[in-house]
Amino acid sequence: MPVTPQHLIQWKQQQRSIAILTAWDYAIASILDRAGIDAILVGDSLAMVALGHDTTLPLTLDEMIYHAKAVRRGVKEALLIVDLPFLTYQESVQQALHSAGRILKETGAGAVKLEGGYPVMAETVSRLVQAGIPVMGHVGLTPQSVRQTGFRQQGRSTEAGERILSEAIALEQAGAFAIVLEHIPAELARTITQKLTIPTIGIGAGAGCDGQVLVTSDVLGLGTWKPKFAKAYLDLNTLITRSVQEYCEEVRSGKFPVE
Ligand code: KIV
Repeated sequence: MPVTPQHLIQWKQQQRSIAILTAWDYAIASILDRAGIDAILVGDSLAMVALGHDTTLPLTLDEMIYHAKAVRRGVKEALLIVDLPFLTYQESVQQALHSAGRILKETGAGAVKLEGGYPVMAETVSRLVQAGIPVMGHVGLTPQSVRQTGFRQQGRSTEAGERILSEAIALEQAGAFAIVLEHIPAELARTITQKLTIPTIGIGAGAGCDGQVLVTSDVLGLGTWKPKFAKAYLDLNTLITRSVQEYCEEVRSGKFPVE
């Protein structure tokens, strides 16, 4: 049975951890789905890992929809969540409704994710949810604010930690079905997780969250840079380089193709 936002909430109640990975194309998405991932996030990190930008900021809504449509074709069971790119939802509630509506209509996604939890964003989440659009929140390190914060850990001081906690509570009250906690101290993530009834999905936020999300290129060892908190389960960089070198050698020496 395809996974829904409601399943994620039930799994928190049952203390069943949630596993999420990102995808940006059909091939990766179908492998993740067949392997049994709970949800697939078409994260705006695709701007960096698939399109070669330095930050997530340049990604457009049209580019996100293009990638999400490809991912959708590979997903049968997992919940498909799509990021709202930078400045496609912060201007006004109307802009957020328009962008999130396009994502749901044009890609077949089951939910959208947006960054930030300050009062304005909680209001936006509430209006999206009232319009029937499931929303995942994202607080802590929010890469769309990289020009203000850098990629540094957030929530280190008591005051900053309390602000992130109150943002998470505001998002839950606004109707978000889950919240990503990115790169914050593990103790803070544990406290937020205990206070919320919706699941927290950690990335660089320790083991006390209800689930984990990682960027798939980091998990596969694809790409040149990965955050310290990510775990590579494979070294695809090396495997691909070796395979390409072997192919070049065989073509040049006449070993491939055979008669
Ligand atoms: O864009 C992304 O991949 C994300 C995850 C890091 C949570 O938002």
